[in-house]
Amino acid sequence: MQKTWTTWIPAATVAVALAACGGGEKPAEPTPAPEPTPAPEVTPAPDAAAATPGGEQALSEQLKAAQARIPADQKDKPNPKSGDAAAIAKGKETYTTVCASCHGTEGKGDGPAAVALTPRPASFADKPRLTPGERFWVLKNGIEGTGMSAFGAAMSDDDVWSVLAFEETFLASAGGAAPAAPAAPPAGGGQ
Ligand code: HEC
Repeated sequence: MQKTWTTWIPAATVAVALAACGGGEKPAEPTPAPEPTPAPEVTPAPDAAAATPGGEQALSEQLKAAQARIPADQKDKPNPKSGDAAAIAKGKETYTTVCASCHGTEGKGDGPAAVALTPRPASFADKPRLTPGERFWVLKNGIEGTGMSAFGAAMSDDDVWSVLAFEETFLASAGGAAPAAPAAPPAGGGQ
């Protein structure tokens, strides 16, 4: 009887030890490998300076400087060619040959030449930053320090208003309101 005990105890101890050991060696539950999440598609930033159609576009420092030079009486001048079909057709021709390379065929500021420019060409499909009169002045005189050159020598006043009348159609087709009335002067704008 005693013999049985002495052999039994160590045997049990070993059994327990083995069990414990075995438990420890038990391979961990395989945790499912995390689904490889595909990297989000990197969509190239739109070339336009603007974000959303009808959204605000920030004024570049250069544009602010140009704006400060625009004579006060020029700012409120309405576009006499606004909505004039013949002028718009003529303006479209000018736009396509002269302006689209930078401002884009849809006026979004994403023409092929736009990528190289800082600041980026303006988008005409977004909320206008300038009044029609200011745009007229910019087109005549250019924006110093940007890709926007002065077209005053190359274009008559009528040509300028016509291309601006065509430009206004981008905003209308983007769902924005045509800039009929001059926009309120920006806060802090030197009046
Ligand atoms: C070489 C590229 C280039 C060409 C060509 C060009 N522009 Fe621009 N234009 C620019 C850039 C760049 C700006 C923005 C400058 C800034 O934000 O300071 C600009 C700004 C303007 C602005 C004023 C910004 C605004 O918010 O309204 C008007 C208007 C404009 N362009 C009209 C035209 C028209 C019309 C033509 C064609 C007759 C034309 N541009 C041709 C590069 C160009």
